Amino acid sequence: MRHITSTRNIFHEYGNGDKTILFIHGFIFDSTLWQRQIPALAEDYKIIVPDLRGFGGSTDCDGMITMESYVDDLFEILKEQMIVKPVLAGLSMGGYAALRMAERSPEKFSGLVLFDTRAAADSDEAKLKRAAGVRILKHGGLNTYAATLMEAVFSAGFKEREPDEFQSFIDRASGINPKGAIGALLAMMGRTSTISFLESATLPVLALCGEFDTLTPPTEMLQMMSNVKNGEFHIVPDAGHAAPYENFSECNKVLTNFLRNLPF
Ligand code: MLT
Repeated sequence: MRHITSTRNIFHEYGNGDKTILFIHGFIFDSTLWQRQIPALAEDYKIIVPDLRGFGGSTDCDGMITMESYVDDLFEILKEQMIVKPVLAGLSMGGYAALRMAERSPEKFSGLVLFDTRAAADSDEAKLKRAAGVRILKHGGLNTYAATLMEAVFSAGFKEREPDEFQSFIDRASGINPKGAIGALLAMMGRTSTISFLESATLPVLALCGEFDTLTPPTEMLQMMSNVKNGEFHIVPDAGHAAPYENFSECNKVLTNFLRNLPF
């Protein structure tokens, strides 16, 4: 593994394959979200896992972030590392960024993998919820906010099977710079819809959703994928909103199969 610093982000690189996968984490996670994909893929692929601005090792964040800032940072990593035609994989907020990257420059990617995410922009209700979150975070409420969010993210089965892992996600989320979380809420609140891009895209798209995901439920993801030309959708049993961590063996099986058939 190599730890690399790009202009604004820390990221980690694994494997030596000539085909690359860029994994983009969700909110309030960091690159450790993907640790259960690395052993399954590092032999055949190069894997790039950034900490988005304000998360993990990328602690430098003034709280003024847009989805376009994340996307600019990620394009910068690809450019600096001279990575050609990677597959983009994102979970939830990471999926919003992956969709926007692919919308900006579809010709630069070999495929898109969407875990527990949506292409629609925020509804008014969601925007008000984000504003309430910003208020809490500005007044020192990160610990409570992180614990409540992680409670909703992970399925009951995961919390029971792996209580220490569940707790370590809460601890990591509670330790970030609150400005990173505020910036992410503002970025998600202001993001644009990528529905029309997704429905007109010719890129191969794999979508996966935890059976018990209550934040981006399977019915919503199925609807999102229903008009995608070159898409496939899988429901991941025994998982909530962090499907690639909660049921990594099922996700890795579907993912490796998808990757094997891609014209990189
Ligand atoms: C995430 O997991 O990244 C968040 O649930 C995304 C969101 O709040 O829309």
